[in-house]
Amino acid sequence: MRPLIDRYRVRLPVSDSTPVVSLGEGSTPLLRAPRLSERLGADVYLKWEGANPTGSFKDRGMTVAISKALEQGARAVVCASTGNTAASAAAYAARAGVAALVLQPAGAVASAKLAQARALGARVLEVRGSFDEALEAARVLADRGTHVLVNSLNPLRLEGQKTAAFEILDELGVAPDVLALPYGGGGNLCAYARGFEEGGAGRPRILAGEAAQRSTTVASAIRIAEPVHAREVEEAIRASNGAIVSLDDDAILDAWRELALDEGVLCEPSSAAGLAALTVSELEPDMRIVCVVTGHGLKDPETAARLSPPPVSVDPDPDAIAEAAG
Ligand code: F0G
Repeated sequence: MRPLIDRYRVRLPVSDSTPVVSLGEGSTPLLRAPRLSERLGADVYLKWEGANPTGSFKDRGMTVAISKALEQGARAVVCASTGNTAASAAAYAARAGVAALVLQPAGAVASAKLAQARALGARVLEVRGSFDEALEAARVLADRGTHVLVNSLNPLRLEGQKTAAFEILDELGVAPDVLALPYGGGGNLCAYARGFEEGGAGRPRILAGEAAQRSTTVASAIRIAEPVHAREVEEAIRASNGAIVSLDDDAILDAWRELALDEGVLCEPSSAAGLAALTVSELEPDMRIVCVVTGHGLKDPETAARLSPPPVSVDPDPDAIAEAAG
């Protein structure tokens, strides 16, 4: 897999002296979604970001942020995270040979993400507080100069993440009519808006799905009370004639189930917020829609197990199996 930085080198803030830290990120599938297309009366594609090396879109930004940190001689990076940024930072830091410190809101991170960051050698601190409080602490620590901040407040992260828009343009030739995606802190939305603007082949209307109950939603990845990019998000939504759609947990989980059962794409709950936003929005017929599915379902096995039928126990007997098969 060609590193993302090499694929889009001329559009990224790197030079020949930047050491490329890559795990084969990007080049993710753009999947046609036939059943969703029929239901929505549109031509729907899923940008499947769970196919990135650590299982989420964060790897696009992390390859750029960590490569540049290494170039600048950093020895350690820090992030606050609901789980995916942490896992990605841990992986790219391990690859680069620098230390990763991750601050996670205690008790609020899906188990596989926590295990991922630990197994990849990050120093994991469970902060007795919210994501927002952990982020504030990470910012202050980074200002002291010991660690480079690799949250999306680091503009290099968004530079990397804008490449998802380039890939969509490369495949479709023009921007889709609508782009739907989850809205947590808003960094990813800003990155797509920038990517389409730089791509110069049209801009989609952006639909941003956010949790109505931001602080308590089942979609733990977007459990963020105060989105740090709120102002730029509002600007991008206005400029694209889009909308921010507020979603209750049931709407998010219905979309999550639909992606799994009708399209075979198992994502984590937060990642279904784009589809949930589409479901409640008025769409003109026959539009071309790209729905960004941001992270892998194996990241949150508890939710998957809790919401799915339990396995049925059976003897290794064909008759009993045929009966139990239903
Ligand atoms: N989807 C997933 C799977 C995420 O992990 C996140 C954010 C988002 C969507 C929202 O993206 O913040 O750019 O609007 N996760 C961060 C983290 C907060 O720490 O992993 P956003």
